[in-house]
Amino acid sequence: MAFRTLDGVAVAGKRVLLRADLNVPVQNGAITDLTRLERLSPTIRELAAAGARVVVCSHFARPKGKRVPEMSLAPVAAALGQVLGRKVAFTQDCVGPAAEAAVAALADGDVLVLENTRFHAEEEKNDPAFAAQMAKLADLYVNDAFSSSHRAHASTEGVAHLLPAYAGRLMQAELEALESALSHPERPVAAVVGGAKVSTKLDLLGNLVKKVDLLVIGGAMANTFLAAQGLGVGKSLQEAEMHATARDILAQAKASGCDVVLPADAVVAEALRADVHTVIVAVTAVPEEMMILDVGPATVAGINQRLASLRTLVWNGPLGAFETPPFDAATVALARAVAAATKAGKLRSVAGGGDTVSALRHAGVLEEMSYVSTAGGAFLEWMEGKTLPGVAALAA
Ligand code: 3PG
Ligand code: MG
Repeated sequence: MAFRTLDGVAVAGKRVLLRADLNVPVQNGAITDLTRLERLSPTIRELAAAGARVVVCSHFARPKGKRVPEMSLAPVAAALGQVLGRKVAFTQDCVGPAAEAAVAALADGDVLVLENTRFHAEEEKNDPAFAAQMAKLADLYVNDAFSSSHRAHASTEGVAHLLPAYAGRLMQAELEALESALSHPERPVAAVVGGAKVSTKLDLLGNLVKKVDLLVIGGAMANTFLAAQGLGVGKSLQEAEMHATARDILAQAKASGCDVVLPADAVVAEALRADVHTVIVAVTAVPEEMMILDVGPATVAGINQRLASLRTLVWNGPLGAFETPPFDAATVALARAVAAATKAGKLRSVAGGGDTVSALRHAGVLEEMSYVSTAGGAFLEWMEGKTLPGVAALAA
């Protein structure tokens, strides 16, 4: 899809409403990861340097239309100021007199953060009057929140129709990376999909088999595929009600010429515990009292071998229960192999989704992928082939 970027847009002296994703992870009131703020900062710097009056808006957590003090964006605005190394103003509301006064007080190059858009129930309803109130604050709208673009909310979608609307630099980078991975990839292209449930990734698998040459399925969802083919998976996590669906996905893959790799061997144990005794078995010989907790080394070696002939790889979901070593072994080994092929210039690697990012960080290769998306749900929906409303609103 062609979308409008900031290239050639005159922003000097203009009020720019910048939809950011300031929904950073927080634990006991402290921000635990600044990645989203760091990835957003080039757009803010560019706009401010060009003389725009930058008005940043975002949701934060899920206050459901109420003013929840713990969900104020005030501390996030302060953190953004630190990341940018400059003064960032903050105001108590995202529409109405307080917001209007704060915007009116801005000089060219200033940055203001508005309070949580979800303090108003109208935000998630994509209420037109509320979107119009936001639009009143600015001359231009820039959306840099790819990770929120699966939501058709007032600040991500509604307002984009009321002002000249553009993709920010982070949005642009996300879209370019994802398009290079799935829309027009260099082939052969592979997808690695892991995670617990087939049921949550059904649309994803259905779309991928049509698009990729090789599909690697790991995680507990692989157990469902193995069981669907009549193999005993012992006490493994699996979804019995998804067997027919799993067989259907394999048939679709075959019809589309997509090669599916399922585990041939597995690491099994009696329970998911760090100190538990583990055994490596063929998937045809999983003991009844054991559960599959990671993909086995022979399978990983097989995948690594095929990596050499691939040009593009997109990754969503860990191969095993990586939070509990030693069940991180397959994920870590594949992550390192993907990183090495990427570094050698042989592979374009794109990863995304919450768990995937922590798994790659755990493997120490987060910085070595070609691109890692800041998005969770939006990355998944994009991989499912869905139209993201916040992106569609930026169509050129
Ligand atoms: C995210 O963190 O995935 C985005 O900020 C979207 O948040 P939401 O799932 O609450 O809409
Ligand atoms: Mg989410």
